[in-house]
Amino acid sequence: MNIVIIGFGSVGRGVTRVLIEKKKFLRNFLGDYKVIAVTDSSGGIYDENGLDLRKVLEMKSKGGLPKEITSIEVIRDLDFDVCIEVTPTNVENGEPGLTHIRECLKKGVDVVTSNKGPLVVAFRELMNLAKKNNARLMFEATVGGAMPVIKLAKIDLAGNEILSVRGILNGTCNYILSRMEKELLPYELILEEAKELGIAERDPTYDVEGIDAGAKLVIIANALMGLDAKFKDVERVGISNLTPEAFKVALENGYTIRLIAEANRDFLRVSPRLVPLNHPLAIYGTLNALEIETNLAGNVFVIGKGAGSVETASAIISDLICLKSLRY
Ligand SMILES: NC(=O)c1ccc[n+]([C@@H]2O[C@H](COP(=O)([O-])OP(=O)(O)OC[C@H]3O[C@@H](n4cnc5c(N)ncnc54)[C@H](OP(=O)(O)O)[C@@H]3O)[C@@H](O)[C@H]2O)c1
Repeated sequence: MNIVIIGFGSVGRGVTRVLIEKKKFLRNFLGDYKVIAVTDSSGGIYDENGLDLRKVLEMKSKGGLPKEITSIEVIRDLDFDVCIEVTPTNVENGEPGLTHIRECLKKGVDVVTSNKGPLVVAFRELMNLAKKNNARLMFEATVGGAMPVIKLAKIDLAGNEILSVRGILNGTCNYILSRMEKELLPYELILEEAKELGIAERDPTYDVEGIDAGAKLVIIANALMGLDAKFKDVERVGISNLTPEAFKVALENGYTIRLIAEANRDFLRVSPRLVPLNHPLAIYGTLNALEIETNLAGNVFVIGKGAGSVETASAIISDLICLKSLRY
């Protein structure tokens, strides 16, 4: 299996570390594999005989990758089986990932991605393109990091109709709300601490306004419920107006407040909702959770780590293995 990695940030490097450290183990599932190209925003490196990944990681940490080849040249000119597309998410136009994924699928090459943007913007187009060219697009890592959602529904719940989904899809918001519940402190104070701890970005808009959760919800609704939803279809309210007083009242009545992403045939919505304190979605810290309502299996709950370099790599590796051994 010849692999190229487009994007060499936290996730790209996490996948690379796993491919190095678990090589012997992964060969049981993937057979012989090599990474023949790695790119970032300014260029990249390639070797059709397989790169020395330890050296590539070292180059990136000490001044950057060489500028031997661009992402588009890799996709257009090299011969490979799988593209791991892990460039930044852009929910406005899906780029640069949308072009990368389109070009791979047109070539009949399989893609594994953690990049939400292309799937939010062009889910049906990309799925149709993959089908037409006998390629596969795998995207477990886009919706819940290490938390299994797509393959759980497609494989383990195969034969079930997914009636609705409801869950917590943003770890940063969940961390802030967990602490507001426990400490009854103002939102702004906890957000500042979350920034210092690296749990929230310097500009937290994407997380706290529900954009990230909304993007994941669109992908889940389209992939599991057969919808053709767009990001603009998501009714969205963030968490920045929540007060300690709101938590106090909620707690007195046996509830907490969480940022809940929910989709059914009538609406897609991300908003702060009351959750009973003893409900499985009343989770704490940076965890993600999802309740999947099915017509045969009833309600299924899953909880897991929604982000992180190696955690997200876990979902990407499972998609790679699935490409090799499972079809759904
Ligand atoms: N981090 C997580 O825990 C997590 C979890 C789930 C999903 N995701 C998604 O996974 C994707 C990657 O996340 P990340 O945390 O690894 O992001 P990141 O640390 O910002 O890395 C993004 C990488 O993409 C590179 N890049 C930008 N434009 C490119 C282009 N045109 N061609 C090739 N590379 C390009 C960047 O280059 P430079 O290095 O030169 O800047 C960087 O290496 C994002 O879409 C994110 O939403 C992340």
